[in-house]
Amino acid sequence: MTAEYRRLRVALLGAGAVGSQVASLLLRHGDELADRAGAALELAGIAVRDVDARRDVDLPKELFTTDAESLILGSDIVIELIGGIEPARANILLALGSGADVVTANKALLATHGPELFEAADRVGASVYYEAAAAGAIPIIRPLRDSLAGDRVVRIMGIVNGTTNYILDRMDTEGADFADVLADAQRLGYAEADPTADVEGYDAAQKAAILASLAFHTAVPLDAVHREGISSITASMIEEARAAGFVIKLLAVCERIEANGAESISVRVYPALVPQSHPLANVHGANNAVFVEAEAAGSLMFYGAGAGGVQTASAVLGDVVSAARRHIAGGVGVGESTRANLPIVPIGHVTTRYQITLQVADAAGVLATVAGILSDGGVSVATVVQTVEGESEPTARLIIGTHRATEEALSATVDALAESSVVERVVSVLRVEGE
Ligand code: HSE
Repeated sequence: MTAEYRRLRVALLGAGAVGSQVASLLLRHGDELADRAGAALELAGIAVRDVDARRDVDLPKELFTTDAESLILGSDIVIELIGGIEPARANILLALGSGADVVTANKALLATHGPELFEAADRVGASVYYEAAAAGAIPIIRPLRDSLAGDRVVRIMGIVNGTTNYILDRMDTEGADFADVLADAQRLGYAEADPTADVEGYDAAQKAAILASLAFHTAVPLDAVHREGISSITASMIEEARAAGFVIKLLAVCERIEANGAESISVRVYPALVPQSHPLANVHGANNAVFVEAEAAGSLMFYGAGAGGVQTASAVLGDVVSAARRHIAGGVGVGESTRANLPIVPIGHVTTRYQITLQVADAAGVLATVAGILSDGGVSVATVVQTVEGESEPTARLIIGTHRATEEALSATVDALAESSVVERVVSVLRVEGE
């Protein structure tokens, strides 16, 4: 059957965990993919740094080359799975310049050089496909770009980093400490030897920038994403959260908000308290999930594997089929829409609910003093729970749930609490999301 189809040459750059699976699936399912794409997809070559390196999958040796440039220039579709900024960026620009469509999973590159790549694609009427760049195998880019194109996205809350979800989930189910679970995650290969990108929220921030840009038709530079990681989350914070009916999740929150009377957006990554009844609270292990709220569609949840070689290869191949269909149909690719270009508000202007945990002396007037500081700061109290420890010199733990307050007001109030003589220690301050 495939002989009837026009042949499209596909170049693969990189043969790591995802790349080798992409090559293997392309070779194994070529006939089926051709029927779906309406074109025969010929794997023209695989550009790598070292043709003799060990691969996860056995692939025909003759496909490998170190000459990425020649491979790119002879191809209709270029799959970039090298990762990082260079040479990925130069290779993609070369491919787009030659009129090829590009499929990439490179979140770091898209989050930092996205506009440059999309402009290069626009100039020649080509397209950049990147379903695998956010939340691995989960279809979320196409739903935001196409399925929800007729709707208005109001909010996205995503668990978009599997490593941190694995760590937080094990801390929650086993009462374990962050450092112990991280060490275990590194041993099992979930976390990298240098876990900074995952545990400090950089990986999630890149994905948040990509999702927010699409959802709100606005270019979102990475430095406009507020980012905090999970390394300060302790077993006792998780225990207290559970007692109050919450789990702690590292969330990427992309939200349409009104600021200074103007429609704006906020994009932020931080650990937050999520009610146990929320669908995101039940995302376990290294799984990812993206919860989307749209004006007409209401709430939608996209769930599944956020990483993994063969799982991510599924998203890459879906993009290859889309790119092939565009080549066959002709016409220009769909460019990135930044027509709304909404202002991105700084974190200080964002409003959420908070839970503040304080260690205080258990003496007359302490609660009144704390309440006074909150009142002076314009932060309204919704709930207070107090537990007393020790007998000779009793201290109390105060868990204060606030009504919605701006980050600016909350942070000034927490500073004032920390300076107060009745407060021994500000144990934790966490935002509440998803209520
Ligand atoms: N390191 C990421 C994670 C996977 O833990 O989810 C790749 O984005």
